Amino acid sequence: MTREAAEFLGIEDPFFRVHEGIAGAETLIGNRTYVNFASYNYIGLNGHPMISDAAKAAIDCYGTTVSASRPVSGERPIHRELEQALARVHGCEDCVVLVGGHSTNVTVIGHLLDRNDLIVHDALIHNSIVQGATLSGARRVSFRHLDHQAAERLLGELRQRYTHALLVIEGHYSMDGDVPDLPSFIALARRHRAWLMVDEAHALGVLGSRGFGTADHFGVDPNDVDIWMGTLSKSLVSCGGYIAGRKDLIDYLKLAAPGFVFSVGMAPAAAAAAVAALELLKREPERVRRLNDRAGLFLQLAREGGLDVGGSIGASIVPVITGSSIRAGRLAQAMFQRGINVQPILYPAVPERAARLRFFLTAEHSETQVRDAVRILLEEYRRVASEPSDLAALARHLGNKWASLTGRSA
Ligand SMILES: Cc1ncc(COP(=O)(O)O)c(C=O)c1O
Repeated sequence: MTREAAEFLGIEDPFFRVHEGIAGAETLIGNRTYVNFASYNYIGLNGHPMISDAAKAAIDCYGTTVSASRPVSGERPIHRELEQALARVHGCEDCVVLVGGHSTNVTVIGHLLDRNDLIVHDALIHNSIVQGATLSGARRVSFRHLDHQAAERLLGELRQRYTHALLVIEGHYSMDGDVPDLPSFIALARRHRAWLMVDEAHALGVLGSRGFGTADHFGVDPNDVDIWMGTLSKSLVSCGGYIAGRKDLIDYLKLAAPGFVFSVGMAPAAAAAAVAALELLKREPERVRRLNDRAGLFLQLAREGGLDVGGSIGASIVPVITGSSIRAGRLAQAMFQRGINVQPILYPAVPERAARLRFFLTAEHSETQVRDAVRILLEEYRRVASEPSDLAALARHLGNKWASLTGRSA
C-alpha cells in the first residue's frame, strides 16, 4: 500500500537503491555522485587501506569462512583478538562476537530470560531487542522514550513478581540521535535488582571523547552496566554483533547461547576488519571529534532554519521531522534530485506524525557539504510544505486497489 501510494503521488521508491562504490560522505548511484547522508560509516573508515589490507590478509591466512561453529572447529586467533580489543574499549572483563548484530540481541535476550522473567525497555528500542524479548517468553513492557522515572515506576510495580528483570536501553538512539541519562538508569537498575543492558550500535565511535561509547560519554564505570551490546556494522565497518561484560556472563553465553553455539564463527575478513577499525579508532580520535563537529553544525543550522530536529544531541544522527509520510517521501525525492541522498522514515516504521528524514553524518563530510545540504533542505522543505496533497483522491485510489486485490471493498 505504501508503494502504491508513493506511485500515485509520483514519489520514486527510495529503498534498495544500488550504490556502485564505497558509500561514505559521497556515494555513486546510477553513475551520479551524491552527497550521502545514509551510511553508518560514522568515522569514515569504510575502504580505509589499513582495514581492507587486514581483511585481505585474513582471507589469505584463513580463507573466506571458518565453516563451523567456534566450539566445534571454527576458532581462529583473530576471533579472540577482536574480543579482547572490544573488551578493552568497553572496559569489561571479556567479550563474545557473533555473526550478526540483530541476531546477537535475539539470541542473547532470547536465551538469558524466560517466562518467569521481566523485560523493561525504552519504547523506541530497536526491533532486535523486541524480537529477543518475544523469543524469551518473558513479560515485556516498555516505558516512554528516555523516561527513567517511568522505567522506575514499572519496575517498582512489577519487579517482585518475576525471578529476573532486564532493563534495556540504547546508548544513542538510531531514530532520534538522543541519549539516555545513563547514571539514572544504572541507579534504578541497582535499586530494583535488574540487569542493565545497553545497546551501543550507534554509540561506539560516536560518543565520548575517545569514541568508546556511552560509558565514555558519561564518565561512568563500565562495570556498572551488566551487558554491553554492540554491532560491528557501523563505526567498525564490518559485520557482526558482540556482548561485552563480566567473564562469567561471556563464558556462559559461549557455552549456551544458541546463536553462538549452533552458528558459524565470524568470517575471518569481517573479524580482521573490525580489529583494524578499532585500532584506527584508538589511534585517530580526531575522527570522532570531526564527526561530532559536523553533526553539531548540521543540527545547529537546521534548528536555526526552524526545522524540527527532535531531541538529537548532534553527535552523528539528526532527524528532520516532517510530520507526514507523504511530506517525508517528497522531501527525500527532492533532495535526491538535487544530489543529496537521505532516507525518509515513514509510517509504520515510526508513528505517522513522527515521519522524518534521517541524516547520518560522517567524519568525512566537509563543512561545505553540511552547509549546502542544510541550505538545500530548507529550500526544498518550504517548497514541499506548501505543496497540497489530494488525500481524498489518494484514499479513493488505495480503496480501489485494495478492492481489486482482495475482492472486498475497503
Ligand atoms: C540499536 C541497534 N541495535 C542492533 C542493530 C542490528 O545491528 P546489525 O545491523 O549490525 O545487525 C541495529 C541496526 O541498525 C541497531 O540500530
